[in-house]
Amino acid sequence: MIIIDANRILSSIDSRIYGQFIEHLGKCIYGGIWVGENSKISNIKGFRKDVVEYVKAIKPAIVRWPGGNFASGYHFIDGIGPRNKRPIKLDLAWNEYESNNFGTDEFIEWIRLIGSQPYIVVNAGNGSPEEAAHWVEYTNRIDGTYYADLRRKYGHKEPYNVKLWGIGNELYGEWQIGFCVDGRECARRTIEFANEMKKVDGSIELVGVGTDFNQRWNYDMVRYAGKYIDYLSIHTYVYERNYLDLVSCTELFEKRILKTFFTIEEARRDGKIDRNIRIAYDEWNVWYPDAKPPEHTQITSLKDAIFTALVLNVFEKYSEMVAIANFAQTVNVLPLILTKDDGSILLSPQYFVFKLYVQHGSKLIYSIVDGEAYFSRKFGKWLNFIDVSASISEDRNKIYIHLVNRNPVEAYSCRINVRGFIPKIVKHSYITSENLDDKNTWKDPDKIFIVERKPKKWRGEITIPSKSVNLLTLLS
Ligand code: AHR
Ligand code: AHR
Repeated sequence: MIIIDANRILSSIDSRIYGQFIEHLGKCIYGGIWVGENSKISNIKGFRKDVVEYVKAIKPAIVRWPGGNFASGYHFIDGIGPRNKRPIKLDLAWNEYESNNFGTDEFIEWIRLIGSQPYIVVNAGNGSPEEAAHWVEYTNRIDGTYYADLRRKYGHKEPYNVKLWGIGNELYGEWQIGFCVDGRECARRTIEFANEMKKVDGSIELVGVGTDFNQRWNYDMVRYAGKYIDYLSIHTYVYERNYLDLVSCTELFEKRILKTFFTIEEARRDGKIDRNIRIAYDEWNVWYPDAKPPEHTQITSLKDAIFTALVLNVFEKYSEMVAIANFAQTVNVLPLILTKDDGSILLSPQYFVFKLYVQHGSKLIYSIVDGEAYFSRKFGKWLNFIDVSASISEDRNKIYIHLVNRNPVEAYSCRINVRGFIPKIVKHSYITSENLDDKNTWKDPDKIFIVERKPKKWRGEITIPSKSVNLLTLLS
């Protein structure tokens, strides 16, 4: 039994939680997003056309770029101006050659092609606050100053007005170029960057580096740099051998969100910080051991699609705390979409989850499940097999129900009691397959896809296949 109450509006859902992340790593940018104008692969001014179309179809509200670890050694100046004059640099983060063929102007152009908004991470590793301020000047100032005029000189008259900026990436980690020894050091660095960047454009929003495992760090970041940031970032990658452990990871995400949120609130109180600071979950995914350098590629299966949907349900349910989330990553690296140099393309089951989840309402509404449960040994807790998250459209004409069945064998006939809304028609779309390990492969690329049922008269009951991700759209 599921109860949904359209009158109980819980929070607004920020569409940025369905965001994406692309990094100069493996074949994400080069070979995936960018093939160059002279490529035999069909492209729009150098951007791989099929990738543009498939990314466009999942409508990410924001895309984070250029890293990741890459960001901490990247100098934007190398990636602007005539492409044949750009320097080839050694990328210290991944020990790779960086051609700089894809830079700020290409990123913005691609963002426009897919109809999204940019989220740029500045180099707070071996870069300087001054360099970050120049980057903001390059993208956001109209004219009359060196970097704004440089953009104009390179053919882009109008400013890009990049609103969202990240100050550094994973600065807590020793793998990071220019990492900080503790949260206080990172706070100090964040302040210096924020200060110079905001002098160039006071309207930008900033993401500071937080962690999913060190609340002391998060506390210090917010306590000391909280006046300068709007969001605190956290990252989580998951690898579980056991299926039930994997799909119980909603617990992990919930706990990390709650812990981080309470730390933020405590630090805000102690630091007398008035501004609201919300979470940017700006990297998350499964990460299998076979996804190794240099390509970091993996082909995920139905079980990962179920995980992906469950995490998105968590973000929806905690949308008061989570403003932003970026799936890591969109193309070829831990990917949603895989490409080959012969022009072929493959969509992972996780891709189809995003396709279902871009269909959502602007307001989260109350929903609850009472049904069969299992005991998660990993988390020491009973969890429902069915997981639900519901939202309503601005005009109150549609309810979207994101319904996941974790049960690997049982289908359920779910009774859904909807209050405060009279559904007439239901549309049911879902993703499932015979086996949890089923995936789309180069040999069998269409094994998993979205099944769309014909719209039906609403009867208050619906059958949900085992191991499935479902979207129910109720129309009044
Ligand atoms: O997404 C791959 C890498 O994972 C990113 O570069 C880094 O931020 C994280 O460690
Ligand atoms: O193995 C890579 C590390 O795993 C990433 O740097 C970290 O973000 C993730 O947890």
